[in-house]
Amino acid sequence: MVSDKKIIAVLGATGAQGGGLLRSILADKDGPFKARALTRDVNSAKAKALAAAGAEVMAADVDDAATLRRGFEGVHGAYCVTFFWDHMSPEKELAEAGSMAEAAKQTGVQHVIWSTLEDTRRLVPLEDDRMPTLGGKYKVPHFDAKGEADALFTRAGVPATFLLTSFYWDNFIYFGAGPKRGPDGKLALVLPMGDKKLPGMAAEDIGKCAHGIFKRGREFIGKTVGITGEHLSGEEMAAGLTRALGEQVTYQGVSPEVYRSFPFPGADDLGNMFQFKRDFNDHFRGARSVDFSRSLNPELQSFDQWLSRNADKIPLEAAAG
Ligand SMILES: NC(=O)c1ccc[n+]([C@@H]2O[C@H](COP(=O)([O-])OP(=O)(O)OC[C@H]3O[C@@H](n4cnc5c(N)ncnc54)[C@H](OP(=O)(O)O)[C@@H]3O)[C@@H](O)[C@H]2O)c1
Repeated sequence: MVSDKKIIAVLGATGAQGGGLLRSILADKDGPFKARALTRDVNSAKAKALAAAGAEVMAADVDDAATLRRGFEGVHGAYCVTFFWDHMSPEKELAEAGSMAEAAKQTGVQHVIWSTLEDTRRLVPLEDDRMPTLGGKYKVPHFDAKGEADALFTRAGVPATFLLTSFYWDNFIYFGAGPKRGPDGKLALVLPMGDKKLPGMAAEDIGKCAHGIFKRGREFIGKTVGITGEHLSGEEMAAGLTRALGEQVTYQGVSPEVYRSFPFPGADDLGNMFQFKRDFNDHFRGARSVDFSRSLNPELQSFDQWLSRNADKIPLEAAAG
């Protein structure tokens, strides 16, 4: 029997955002879509698992325009995400977003979701010295290039929804952002957020929300929408971690200057990012609604729900230095 389901091509399908979308489409057996997973290696264990679960798996590299075009050929929708932390180059990220926009235009994709973030330079111009300029022309490189790339989709005339995502709580597991054990043996969650609230979410929920956007048809084309699971202060996250880990976690607010000086790659970018979220907290939070996110994805997880499934995976390492 020939399926009349529309195809959604998913970049980053073996990763966090795209993987969530893939799994959400595959789980929606009676839904209107089928999933095409795009990966650089169709033979990887993750790609094979997606094929076994029922996805079409196709080779594509965002740095190879011909493969990208093939990946978008014949699809209704495309989920476009870039991979900043693989290369840490905003210029490369911008070029990759441009290639995605171009491929979507050439293949006539009817709905692109571009996983974007704010161009912080609109609120913190380069001459504003409350935070350092990085790489000569950015304040928060991994935000700014994504925000700048919005115009590439618009200019190409691609029907796009601009999806503002939130801090993944999964960063506490995979990105070294979780609580650290100090010299006193006690656990501290170190963030430069002052007493402001940080919108956060389960990475898995990003794809589920994107699925909800595709299902709503043309409603969000040309619009910017923001998603989040919960807005929580450092104290509130530390309290949640304390309950879930069964061990006291204390929130340790530090200044963005101190955070920027931490000895890991990208600490300056992340220090600026948290400062932006802290100093423009109303603006940043106002762009991300929990209720809206739940309307797209009724299974949206709270922090406590995410912790109940994931707290045992958080590595409780000693703080560096
Ligand atoms: N961490 C956060 O809190 C957070 C919050 C908001 C936004 N973001 C943004 O999320 C983005 C990353 O998304 P993610 O977390 O879903 O990524 P991820 O889990 O690291 O997965 C990345 C996937 O992308 C694929 N990939 C990498 N380079 C590729 C290329 N050249 N061509 C095609 N596919 C490629 C890889 O698949 P294959 O190996 O199978 O090809 C990989 O599985 C970053 O730009 C980051 O700034 C992160």
